[in-house]
Amino acid sequence: MEKILKIKQVDELTDEKFTLLFLNIIEHCPEATEAVVAKRPFFKVENLINSYWQYLDELDENGRINILKSHPDLGCKKDEIKLTNESQFEQVSAGIEKADKTDKEILQDYNKLYKEKFTFPFVICARQNMVKDILKAIKMRLKNSKIEEIKNGIEEVKKIGKLRIMDIVLSD
Ligand code: GUN
Repeated sequence: MEKILKIKQVDELTDEKFTLLFLNIIEHCPEATEAVVAKRPFFKVENLINSYWQYLDELDENGRINILKSHPDLGCKKDEIKLTNESQFEQVSAGIEKADKTDKEILQDYNKLYKEKFTFPFVICARQNMVKDILKAIKMRLKNSKIEEIKNGIEEVKKIGKLRIMDIVLSD
């Protein structure tokens, strides 16, 4: 985990250090951090978080879908995909690795169905949900339209990003 900084210290970092430290707030999307670094100073953590959220809100539909597509499946086999450190931590915190075989298989089946229907993976903030909640949510969300799921997925990306920011910055 990164060092905890106050927002004042974040505002005073060089652009280079800021970009490195916040590289993966949005999974595999350094472009978000490149846009956010130019908005400093933030003065309040809330403004930093909002800058990332604004970046996501300003993307067109294709851009949002690409963000969702950059997320790994929850419960994906570790050797099949190289997970970022953040993703690995998130998967562990949802208890997916320790889930029983049946739950893992159900999750994989639902992930497959979800991706077949929507073309992008099911994204839910794994740090705020345990395996049983994730299974309930994916089953419900499979009933939605593609437009609804782009919206729901991006709202979850915002929650994931906020928690990743709070790992680095002290609340004020
Ligand atoms: N895919 C679905 N949910 C998550 C999550 O919380 N984190 C990451 N990295 N990938 C996901």
